[in-house]
Amino acid sequence: MPWKAIGIFDSGVGGLTVLKEITRVLPQEDTIYLGDTARVPYGTKSPETVTRYAHEITAFLVKREIKLLVTACNTASAVSLESLKKHYSIPIVGVIEPGARSAACATRSGKVGVIGTEGTIRSSAYTRAIKRINPEIEVITRPCPLFVPLAEEGWVDNEVARLTARIYLRGLKDDGVDTLVLGCTHYPILKGIIAETMGTEVRLVDSAEETAHTVAEILRNRNLLRPSSEKGNHHFFVTDVPAGFIRVGNRFLGNKLGDVHQVSLEDSKRQGVDG
Ligand code: DGL
Repeated sequence: MPWKAIGIFDSGVGGLTVLKEITRVLPQEDTIYLGDTARVPYGTKSPETVTRYAHEITAFLVKREIKLLVTACNTASAVSLESLKKHYSIPIVGVIEPGARSAACATRSGKVGVIGTEGTIRSSAYTRAIKRINPEIEVITRPCPLFVPLAEEGWVDNEVARLTARIYLRGLKDDGVDTLVLGCTHYPILKGIIAETMGTEVRLVDSAEETAHTVAEILRNRNLLRPSSEKGNHHFFVTDVPAGFIRVGNRFLGNKLGDVHQVSLEDSKRQGVDG
């Protein structure tokens, strides 16, 4: 029986931060990544639209016989995860629960900050997930939409990024959060500047690391892990011309991006979902 791959999707290139962690924790696993570059950003779109996109992408990946799906996009995890789980029988992992778990574990003061796209913050998905773990924790949220284009542009350590971080994060700093969830795929790229702005006493939580451990645990429990002697192959698909994805993706992954193919989701759309 050939080993199946892990499917990962994001609105674009940002989910590569999650893929990077998954391949670090599980180097033996094959992955298939889809970046919906024709329709990025998701963070400004309605939950209905993002959920429709998420279903089309999942149908595309399920057709490629994946054994587990990772919704690497925070916005899609926040608004579409439950709907995807209802339609598909394979395990589906979002990035909200793992990030919420890390944050609830890390906080000492009981004050947690969450930053993300407009869509993620509006959904209150992180607040609900953190409060499910510990209702006593105070959660303070803030959308930081400009961080996405800054990361895409590679402006991660200049005056524009520094000023943007200062303006966005000032309130959270004044509120005295001791833990800050980087609730968007792109924000780990700006970790340096966010850490500098928040100060060394604030712990930054990157959902990607915890998500990778969740994936490993699910595959282990279901006996679906490939032997650790294997070496994984990685396939990349995008919905628009690949040039921009390749340029930014290589920056994210340290020049390790393989071939990137442009696909249309039309065929998957016509076939609908599998359940
Ligand atoms: N991938 C999105 C997220 O993590 C950020 C980019 C977008 O808005 O599509 O929320």
